[in-house]
This record gives sequence, structure tokens and C-alpha cells, in this order.
Amino acid sequence: MSKALIIGAAGFAGTALRSELINNGYEVVCADVMSNDDSIIKVDMLDCASADKLIEDVHPDIIFNLAGQASPFLSWQKISFTMHLNVDLSVNICESVARHCPECRILFIGSANQYDMTKSGDDGLVGENNPLINDSPYSISKNTQEEILKLLGKKYNLDIVSTRSFNHIGPNQKPGFVITDYCMRIAQLEAGKLEPFAYGNLDSWRDFSDVRDVVRAYRLIAEKGKKGEIYNVGSGKSYYIRDLIGALVALSPEASSRTVLPTRLDDNALVHFRSDNTKLFEDTGFVAEIDIMKDTIPSVLEAYRAKVKEGLL
Ligand SMILES: NC(=O)c1ccc[n+]([C@@H]2O[C@H](COP(=O)([O-])OP(=O)(O)OC[C@H]3O[C@@H](n4cnc5c(N)ncnc54)[C@H](O)[C@@H]3O)[C@@H](O)[C@H]2O)c1
Repeated sequence: MSKALIIGAAGFAGTALRSELINNGYEVVCADVMSNDDSIIKVDMLDCASADKLIEDVHPDIIFNLAGQASPFLSWQKISFTMHLNVDLSVNICESVARHCPECRILFIGSANQYDMTKSGDDGLVGENNPLINDSPYSISKNTQEEILKLLGKKYNLDIVSTRSFNHIGPNQKPGFVITDYCMRIAQLEAGKLEPFAYGNLDSWRDFSDVRDVVRAYRLIAEKGKKGEIYNVGSGKSYYIRDLIGALVALSPEASSRTVLPTRLDDNALVHFRSDNTKLFEDTGFVAEIDIMKDTIPSVLEAYRAKVKEGLL
């Protein structure tokens, strides 16, 4: 049985990955800087000595690093924190692995935000060779992570695989992302905790996946991906954000009657930005399976209704 260490196990993707790995027969050790769950080891991976001790003690076969600052928006408010978390923490992992378990496979997570969206093809498909861009502290942090991983991978001959992951959604995702923010507002409106609100600009097309599909891709990349490679992880489908929010509104009589969605643009100039999963499919067989309109969107709204009811939001 393979021993997997999930770093950032209490987070959105980390929680889903834990279930995915347990359901697939892994021995799973979980670590995070904070959690109320006693089964998760509390460790600050930015602290070199603590990171080193964890990796020495656990001696994993595979490390999944899901600890990171995940919000491009927040990256503008917390620039040095974003760089520190998305770059230095990965360096700490590499150095500890080189010292204690150099044969360990390590999966690092990058982002679709690294891509220059203006350079996608007419069909919106973005492959791993698409040009990258440094247009936010977040994209810079992920591009820098990739570069330093390349260097350290070579220096220590580490077995690193990386992703550039597109948007993922699910009931455990925090506010601060477009779907969760509108789920929160709709649930608060329904509970009488918020006045009717205006929608912001919803005119873009993005690739969205259910987080359960994403973590299945992470497991498959860890099992079958090629050393040193970077894989896009997405659904391969582009969704008009206004349609996703429209699907949420349709589930809420309160939001339907008291808020006004912006008119749907039939604008062919908008690029239907989406992941080209060819490499991922060829190397791992991954195909996204979960219908986010029918399955994921309603489940996120239900989760936010429950949080508002419990007084958590
Ligand atoms: N959510 C998305 O749509 C998305 C898209 C592309 C890429 N990603 C990337 O995926 C990764 C995971 O994202 P997420 O949405 O699960 O984020 P998250 O914020 O929900 O989880 C991150 C976890 O890391 C932990 N952590 C933070 N600092 C730590 C430290 N010093 N030591 C140990 N643990 C620490 C946090 O406590 C948290 O539980 C991030 O690298 C993010 O950039 C996310």
C-alpha cells in the first residue's frame, strides 16, 4: 500500500483528495497549518525545521502539496504572503524530500491563471505550450514556483509532477470565488440577512470542474504522470459565467423574483477559454465525469444555505 502525505489537507481540494485517496486504497497522512480535526497533523510548512521533521517522520511514497494561497484577488492584498506560501513552502518540501526520501513522488499545483488568455486558440483551447503571463502576484507566484521546481528537480533529481489547474468548485469551497460568493449572497438574501443586490460583470467563459474530478486527476497524475511533466487539469468545457450564476438563481425563487441578472451577451468576441486535456488523457486516461450544472452547482448552494442557517455566514 502506498503512503501518501497530503499537505494542506484541511483545505478545499485537500479535503476532497483525502477521500479520493482513502477510497483508492492509500494509507493517508494529513497535515495542515490549522484544523479542528485531530486526525490532521498541525504543522507550519513555512517553518523549515517543522517541514523537515514531518517529512522525515512520515517518510511518504507520494506527497500532494495542496497548501497554497489560492485566490488571485487576495494576492493583490497579500503580495508577500502569496509569494511566501506559493513558492517558499514548495522549496521547503523539495529540500526535505531530497534529504530524507529522494525517491518520493511529489505533486505540486499550479493554475490556469498562469496562461496568457489572449493567446488561446480560436476554440479557446489552452495547451501546456500556450504562452504564460505574469499579470498578478498570484500568476507570478505560480510561475515562480514552476521555475524553482524545475531547478530543484534537476539539482536533486527529484520525481516531481505538476499541474496547471483550472477553476474547481464544490460545497466546501470558501467564499472569495465567483460561484461561492453568489451562493453566499443568495443564501443570505433568502434568510433575510441581505438586501437584493446587483450582479457584477459575468461576461466571461471559463473552464470549471467539480473538485472530485480534479482530485481524481491529481491521483492519476501521481500514479501515471511522467517525471518532470506539467499537466493541465480541467473539464475541457467552457462555461459562460452568467449561465452558471443563472443556474443558481433558477434554484432560488427569492433570487429569481428580487434580483435581475444582466442580459445574456451573444458576443462571439469572448473567448471560450478551456483546458486542452490531451496530454492528461494520453498519460493518465483522465476524463471529467461530473455534471457541474446538474450536480455541483445545486450542492454548493445547499451547502451555503446550511452555513447561513447555522449562523456561520
Ligand atoms: N480552488 C481553485 O479553483 C484552484 C484553481 C487552481 C489552482 N488551485 C490551487 O490549488 C491549491 C489548493 O487550493 P484550495 O482551493 O484547496 O486552497 P485552500 O485555501 O482551501 O487550502 C489551502 C490549505 O493550505 C493550508 N496551509 C496554508 N498555509 C500552510 C502552511 N504554512 N503549512 C501547512 N498548510 C498550510 C491552509 O490552512 C488550507 O487548509 C492551491 O495551490 C491553489 O492555488 C486552486
